[in-house]
Amino acid sequence: MAQTPNIQWFPGHMAKTRRLIQDQVKLVDLVVELTDARIPQSSRNPELNKWVGEKRRLLILNKSDAADPELTARWLRYYREQGIPAIAVDARSGKGINQFLPAVREILADITEKRQAKGMVGRPIRMMIVGIPNVGKSSFINRVAKEKRAKVEDRPGVTVDKQWIAVAKDVDLMDTPGVLWPKFEDPAVGEKLAFTGAVKDQILDVELLAMRLLGWLKEEYPALLARFKLNPEDLEGREEYELLELVGRRRGMLISGGEVDTLRAAAMILDEYRGGKLGRLSLEAPPKKEGTA
Ligand code: G4P
Repeated sequence: MAQTPNIQWFPGHMAKTRRLIQDQVKLVDLVVELTDARIPQSSRNPELNKWVGEKRRLLILNKSDAADPELTARWLRYYREQGIPAIAVDARSGKGINQFLPAVREILADITEKRQAKGMVGRPIRMMIVGIPNVGKSSFINRVAKEKRAKVEDRPGVTVDKQWIAVAKDVDLMDTPGVLWPKFEDPAVGEKLAFTGAVKDQILDVELLAMRLLGWLKEEYPALLARFKLNPEDLEGREEYELLELVGRRRGMLISGGEVDTLRAAAMILDEYRGGKLGRLSLEAPPKKEGTA
């Protein structure tokens, strides 16, 4: 079976983002962690705990329209059982967004009450949003802020910064740059981030990635390969590269001499997967509880 080489790079802006988050987290009541519902674990930055410490957290599983709804429900249950409040949304259509502010208010209810008791009226709730590149942060912020996407310029006591956005009359949100971490301990994590488009294709071997995706589909959802004109009997005894070639051939992607344009076929496979053409697919399930089958 082909192996995706361990994807590694050093994103130059990571150190800067880390400093920004560590510095500004003191100003916020809550950290909103945006993840990709298709990979609710692999899209969480393992460095984040170090950066934000014990700050209260709300986990958002975005792109839930592209994920398997049953698995999303299981992930939500899994996180909630661990004491991490979590909601699923689709920032592109806006589905589920109306759960957001009520969830925030619920998590912070005791803090808000204490502030009111102390007569601290007018102090807005402050949040910071973090997430990996391409996870839908801009789409999410636009949905939440709607027409209120005003910059926070006249709040007393807040350092005026272009990253603060008022999302309700008493709720401010600070945006942070989408960031990955420099090393994926588990190559499968890097691979899933590449499948879903969090890692730029320019630094990846697109053919290898498409081969891995075909291999994964062959294992998990062989029937879906019909989209690429692969029948069950085509899958028997064929290596991933041969499958890629066959997809290219069946889709008529040939170059002169009758050879298959495997690069084009690979790009098409990734495109169709990312565009949701294969249906709602999640790439990972939550760990099973001990003692269950
Ligand atoms: P970012 O700020 O985190 O980088 O993400 P951004 O909002 O720019 O979204 C990245 C891509 O993900 C966009 O697609 C966007 O439409 C898509 N996206 C965001 N939220 C959702 C969601 O909930 N569901 C789905 N299916 N897609 C979502 P794009 O291809 O770059 O642009 P376009 O096709 O929307 O023009």
